[in-house]
Amino acid sequence: MKKLMDLAAAAMREAFIFCGYDGAYAKVVLSNRPDLCEYQCNGAMAAAKAYKKKPIEIATAVAAALDETRAGEAQPLFGEVQAVMPGFINLRISPAYLAAYLNEMSISPKLGLEESGHGENIILDYGGANVAKPLHVGHLRSAVIGESIRRMGNYLGWHMIGDVHLGDWGLQMGLIIEELRDRKPELPYFDESYSGEYLSQPPFTIGELEEIYPAASAKSKTDEVFRERAQTATGLLQSGYAPFTAIWKHIMTVSLADLKKNYANLNVHFDLWKGESDAQPYIPGLIQDLQDQGLAYESQGALVVDIAEPGDSKELPPCIVRKSDGAALYATSDLGTILEREKDFAPAKYIYVADKRQELHFTQVFRVAKKAGYVKPETPMVHIGFGTMNGKDGKPFKTRDGGVMRLERLIADINEAVYARIMENRTVAEDEARETAKIIGLAALKYGDLSNQAAKDYIFDIDRFISFEGNTGPYILYTIVRIKSILAKYASQEIEGSSVSQQGSTERGKSAQQEMAKDFVPGQKSGILPPSGDGEKALMLQLAKYNDVMETAFAEMAPHRLCQYIYELSNAFNGFYHDNRILAQEDKARQASWIALISLVKAVLEVCIDVLGFEAPERM
Ligand code: ARG
Repeated sequence: MKKLMDLAAAAMREAFIFCGYDGAYAKVVLSNRPDLCEYQCNGAMAAAKAYKKKPIEIATAVAAALDETRAGEAQPLFGEVQAVMPGFINLRISPAYLAAYLNEMSISPKLGLEESGHGENIILDYGGANVAKPLHVGHLRSAVIGESIRRMGNYLGWHMIGDVHLGDWGLQMGLIIEELRDRKPELPYFDESYSGEYLSQPPFTIGELEEIYPAASAKSKTDEVFRERAQTATGLLQSGYAPFTAIWKHIMTVSLADLKKNYANLNVHFDLWKGESDAQPYIPGLIQDLQDQGLAYESQGALVVDIAEPGDSKELPPCIVRKSDGAALYATSDLGTILEREKDFAPAKYIYVADKRQELHFTQVFRVAKKAGYVKPETPMVHIGFGTMNGKDGKPFKTRDGGVMRLERLIADINEAVYARIMENRTVAEDEARETAKIIGLAALKYGDLSNQAAKDYIFDIDRFISFEGNTGPYILYTIVRIKSILAKYASQEIEGSSVSQQGSTERGKSAQQEMAKDFVPGQKSGILPPSGDGEKALMLQLAKYNDVMETAFAEMAPHRLCQYIYELSNAFNGFYHDNRILAQEDKARQASWIALISLVKAVLEVCIDVLGFEAPERM
């Protein structure tokens, strides 16, 4: 379906041209005075200068022309058109048009959303966990934002390829190997004369691994010799030393299983579980090629590529592609990964969701990739740089004793807080409350994050996030649950009304009724009628914005726009609900229309939260 805003702009354009003015002045925007109008056009002001006329003269002529052109239409778009001083054109959508628009939306695939993609591949790099290191809250944002963008893109018809891009090739591997040597020297990997098969089972559990890495990392900070050993081991691993490759595989097996579990708990999913290690085979060829093209040159023992461009506002340092000791580098891995992605997917676009402090890194990588011709000049490469999640003190979020907060801990805390809140009311059984708390907790966590513009830092405030009121995830869920309950009550009223004479209220009658209620589609019989009041119209206008918002949110890669929208839609619904007794409405046609209307609200909210990566419980 065409967007309401575009339809309005098209009609306005016709009227401008009809009056002899350039159609480019016919821009229509949402009104900033909803008390006066719904949409407005300020084009007469700009046109006045060009045509040397009074703005109000132009506005009046265009408004009259709009009236004239719509006179012949079966379903005119505007109900009211007004030229006001000094030259605004105020617009209201016709109630009948709005109702027809929503009815079409109700029966259209994807609620009338037009797909912007046609199956083109988009590489989405998010998550970015580091193997064998615990997931911490810093990884939360990348996972949550990335998952939402992946879902939005797929929904809009693109082929999103989500890649977790694990950090699986760094110093942590050498640290673990050497710590393992100190703890279990008898393992065959440390016996240089060993020539048999290696173990098929990992010689440690995830519990041990979680303890080995922090211990090794702490040791390396005070123990110089140990640190050097770890560096040597990392170098040996990176150059293919078989015993260490075998340990590395064990680390990957154990850690990956744990990571998959953790991401699944967050309802975060990936199409590819690749990592920095997968880029390594491409690196020798990459270095050679950069040299052959004359892009890479020696500087203080390192190999670098200049990336500075004339328009840069600050001086950008060259990208180092090989250090003097020959060790693998973050940028080199990313370049190697690009070669692999080009070969496998030839993506139409690259999106990386990573901490905004990595901005320089991505600028360097993108520029080298373009300069060397690995990625086509027209292929967009974007880094969505997110800010820090802070505690209430405004400093990066920590545990109570000042340590790094683990993601698992954070999720457990939020679930516990939601559980306590649910149990305050004690309307549900304990195990149901536990399940519901998980669903609400995840929504609270994700919405708390996604409702902020990604680049901004935000304060993680558990009490605010789990509140059922205000701009929160639980408030949105509460709205959906409220609609579900109205619809269920309406369905059983309807069915009761039609089956009293046959079944009465016997047990059998009751379960048959429940069966029927399941298949009952509210409002299916009759459509949405033109609004009967202002609150109702406001709700309908919000609904009609859906396709516009979804498209813009993805185009700008901005889930917070979607959050803002569902917050406003929920407010509009709750305002409408407050003013109207839906279930007690005696005018049955009006009641059916309201039921159809709120069913559409529910459908829109559900699509949006699904795209944001969370879901609503049945009750709360
Ligand atoms: N592993 C990195 C980190 O923890 C994030 C990876 C981001 N993606 C990328 N292609 N560099 O900081």
